[in-house]
Amino acid sequence: MHALLRSRPAAGPDSRYTEVRQQTEALCAPLETDDYQVQSVIDTSPPKWHLAHVTWFFETFLLKPFLEGYRPLDARYERIFNSYYNAIGPFHPRAQRHTLSRPTVDEVYAYRKHVDAHMAELAAGCASAQRMTMERRLTLGLNHEQQHQELLLMDVKRNFFANPLFPAYSEARNSRSAGAPPVRWLDFEGGIREIGHGESSFCFDNEQPRHKVFLRDYRLASRPVTNGEYLEFVEGGGYTRPEVWLSDGWSTIQERAWTAPLYWTRIDDEWHEMTLSGMRPLDGATPVCHLSYYEADAYARWRSARLPTEPEWEAATSGESLSGNFVESRLYHPRPAQGRDDAQWFGDVWEWTSSSYSPYPGYRPVEGALGEYNGKFMANQYVLRGGCCATPLAHMRPTYRNFFYPHDRWPFTGLRLASDS
Ligand SMILES: [Fe+2]
Repeated sequence: MHALLRSRPAAGPDSRYTEVRQQTEALCAPLETDDYQVQSVIDTSPPKWHLAHVTWFFETFLLKPFLEGYRPLDARYERIFNSYYNAIGPFHPRAQRHTLSRPTVDEVYAYRKHVDAHMAELAAGCASAQRMTMERRLTLGLNHEQQHQELLLMDVKRNFFANPLFPAYSEARNSRSAGAPPVRWLDFEGGIREIGHGESSFCFDNEQPRHKVFLRDYRLASRPVTNGEYLEFVEGGGYTRPEVWLSDGWSTIQERAWTAPLYWTRIDDEWHEMTLSGMRPLDGATPVCHLSYYEADAYARWRSARLPTEPEWEAATSGESLSGNFVESRLYHPRPAQGRDDAQWFGDVWEWTSSSYSPYPGYRPVEGALGEYNGKFMANQYVLRGGCCATPLAHMRPTYRNFFYPHDRWPFTGLRLASDS
């Protein structure tokens, strides 16, 4: 029995560690060796790099400081698998991760084994004085690896889209749907509400402190916007009407010649959409996905609506069940609302909010190098809520704050309309 686990029930850190580590490798099972090295654009990382980097995290923040006599498998990995932690030292440039043909895929799996074996050793010899810090870092490391599981799928999709063969990561498991239920407005009463994580369970530092916000009465759509609805915007000239776009958004779509969501493509005069099951005919009933903030915002304005704010979204969903289409469903794609009352708050697509990713009042980053995890990214990004079809369910919370730059659209990003009451 893992020492970190002794005072915990069977589903404690030991089984969690094994489960999360195995899940990462299971997600890689459909990949061919050649797929592990591809980095099609600067946003993505090669799958091999993800596998090694999440391992580096445990080595850097647990084994090196806490396991006496620990010897790295290769000391040079400290640099090449560091993502952005300046306090740890210099790192290999993000855009050059595809140049790392060595270590090989086999060597990276050996690195994982090496670290796993020493993590077990560390747990067995864990001194009580260090126990709390180690437990916190272990939990953070596991949540970090779950984040990378989603990134891995996002990146594989982007990489496969860059290949004119449009390879499939998995067989399609969802058949073409009949249609989405009609969208309705759900009314929410304003007033003073509380948002942020206030429990003793794990959260990222950016979800705290819990604090009061003031909301006016507002309305949110009963489900996310679908492909069919967004197609009306595309075919109705939405990308040619500057009046519905933010200035930066208009510049972006001109410069990048965007005329539709990232993975939409016309083939034989029909709209298709790249999925993790290859290129498929566009399904009008599924939530629209792979939109930038600019596109989400323009669509909302075109519909005489707006994006929800982050506090509106959290206040509306705080009592809702976390069930939804997460990675465990193995669809790897959003699915249509399953009836009138399926609001799809969680899973399917991350929902853009109009809130900047900024610190909550009283926010304090974690001490030391791990303070670089979240806080230093709080500029020029927007918050997204709810998780997606590539997110592990166990990784999600109603208070979870994801964030991306407004031009990013390779994550599973969609939107839900909001309006004032
Ligand atoms: Fe990371």
